[in-house]
Amino acid sequence: MATVTAHRKILVTSALPYANGSIHLGHLVEYIQTDIWVRFQKMQGHTVHYVCADDTHGTPIMLRAEKEGITPEALIEAVHKEHAADFKAFLVDFDNYHSTNAPENKELAQSIYRTLKANGKIATKIIEQFYDPVKKMFLPDRFIKGECPKCHAKDQYGDSCEVCGATYNPTELINAYSAVSGAAPIRKETEHYFFKLSECDAFLKQWTRSGTLQGEAANKMGEWFASGLNDWDISRDAPYFGFEIPDAPGKYFYVWLDAPIGYMASFKNLCGKLALDFDEYWAKDSQTELYHFIGKDILYFHALFWPATLEFSGHRTPTQIFAHGFLTVNGEKMSKSRGTFITARSYLDHINNPEYLRYYYAAKLNSSMEDIDLSLDDFVARVNSDLVGKYINIASRCAGFIDKYFAGELNVAAIQGLVGGAIASGQIISESFDARNYAKAIRDIMELADRVNGEIAQAAPWVLAKDETKKAELHDICSRAMHGFYVISILLQPVLPALVSRVAREFFAKHDDFVWADLGLIPSRINPYQHLITRIEPKAIAAMTEANKENLTATPQVTAPVTSPVEEVTLSEAEYISIDDFTKVDLRIAKIVNAEHVEGAEKLLKLTLDIGEANPRQVFAGIKSAYDPANLVGRLTVMVANLAPRKMKFGMSEGMVLAASDEKGGPFILSPDVGASLGMRVK
Ligand code: 2FM
Ligand code: ZN
Repeated sequence: MATVTAHRKILVTSALPYANGSIHLGHLVEYIQTDIWVRFQKMQGHTVHYVCADDTHGTPIMLRAEKEGITPEALIEAVHKEHAADFKAFLVDFDNYHSTNAPENKELAQSIYRTLKANGKIATKIIEQFYDPVKKMFLPDRFIKGECPKCHAKDQYGDSCEVCGATYNPTELINAYSAVSGAAPIRKETEHYFFKLSECDAFLKQWTRSGTLQGEAANKMGEWFASGLNDWDISRDAPYFGFEIPDAPGKYFYVWLDAPIGYMASFKNLCGKLALDFDEYWAKDSQTELYHFIGKDILYFHALFWPATLEFSGHRTPTQIFAHGFLTVNGEKMSKSRGTFITARSYLDHINNPEYLRYYYAAKLNSSMEDIDLSLDDFVARVNSDLVGKYINIASRCAGFIDKYFAGELNVAAIQGLVGGAIASGQIISESFDARNYAKAIRDIMELADRVNGEIAQAAPWVLAKDETKKAELHDICSRAMHGFYVISILLQPVLPALVSRVAREFFAKHDDFVWADLGLIPSRINPYQHLITRIEPKAIAAMTEANKENLTATPQVTAPVTSPVEEVTLSEAEYISIDDFTKVDLRIAKIVNAEHVEGAEKLLKLTLDIGEANPRQVFAGIKSAYDPANLVGRLTVMVANLAPRKMKFGMSEGMVLAASDEKGGPFILSPDVGASLGMRVK
């Protein structure tokens, strides 16, 4: 614990984000939570390595890349850059940020699999799975949609109904269809590889009881044990973006097999950079500590599959798993229509200070798996009141007097008696940080700030400064206050590393960031006051939520279940399409013969398009935000005529109308020049 002075060697991870979407405020709860803990432990002088990586494998990423018209490798490379930049901007200071699609991971995954196999923990079984006969691939449950067997809501995913909450098997869906091609899936047999988790029951029960989990998580494990552990399906059939299973051509490791091994791989990569000993951290008899920060939704993987995989492949198991709850915004699930599905980048574009969010999350986080709420009004009030009104206020009220009347010198004699109290407060607060009870740490720190501000208000240095006979009193109160500011800065450094780094250097003329032991030192002088932070304006929040709503209206209808859009994918030369690729696209001049609203659709209009064929085409276009249907009838536009028909929520869409849009506006549908007529090919 934090009181123990013995040097610890600690390896810490956060869950690996999927490489098919942007980092959003929900993700950041965990990375900020972990980063604060890591920074705190480093301030104690322990050796800490904090590693992470992008989770790059699996069907959604493969299909996403296909949809973008790029290779999966190009997609994950672009997303890696984006993720790394977002984490850096939020001051999440990984010692290594790697990828699961890396040679270290392939080697480790394959060698772990081989050991599990040699230890008799792998079995094969023929199973029946849904198969898309058009796309020629097996379909994960979330790529099968259909009518809910219970409430008959249309277009529900293969495992549960978002309307009535029922859970079921994809086989029970009515009129099931593939979300990839729209085709009706068939059942097909295939051989799969299984990790015999059922044989790990005794080990897992003992591991669970050894203090590795929070109380709530251990209870959840109890439920899983009671219902019996099933063997775990670790293989997927080609086509699949991942690592091939040794001696099993056409079979790939399921993404969740190699994802946690990515923790090891990222560390192995770091070992190469820093000449560390990999085995010291991962061998069965390791004396180091290993902590995984995760969301409560992936507990099953980390508390069952992962320790069993490690144990039976001859590795050490985690010291502890720290699971946190989900983020709600304004008391509700993050929502695109309310503008509360906010990406890391969008936050920075509007608020421009990552430490406000770090502070707010810290003020809310404890060691439980409860959800935390980002109430946007409370966020503004709390940051302005605590950081500007309490913390920075101390320096802005007192530093100027020290500079003006005492040439920057603090009255050390007045401070001396405060050091014992600072160390004692530091002790209590360090226990809260160590136990991940950041909310308590912040409460205690702000109580200190209240005390210092109370003393300042009572002594009123601005009054003392006007009286020549009160200079000693002025020096005394301002020195005590600046010592308070020094102590609070040290205590807040894990949460506000950039701001406190400036305080350390600009005010207290230190060459490095603070360490916890600095609480025992007495600052003897300060530099002149520099402006540090400004208040958040409520209008910045309003603009942020508004912009997130606007982004949505400009986003075309997404039919594949992709979690969040990739902001930007840059094409390298290798990804240009050829002229042959281009000529595959049958572009035609189409006449809009009918346009109408679609009941229940937020963004779509239903268009009937004549391209000179026997039957007109029906196309659902995401242009409702910009067009009145009545103004479209009779217009010529350009459509993709040979796009495979897609079954959408409101019916079949038999093509695509071309429209331009970006964050500045749109969509604007394209029109041909005067003289073009319906049915003409665009070449
Ligand atoms: O749930 C997720 O977002 C996963 N990508 C987390 C993986 S964590 C680890 F096991 F790799
Ligand atoms: Zn239902």
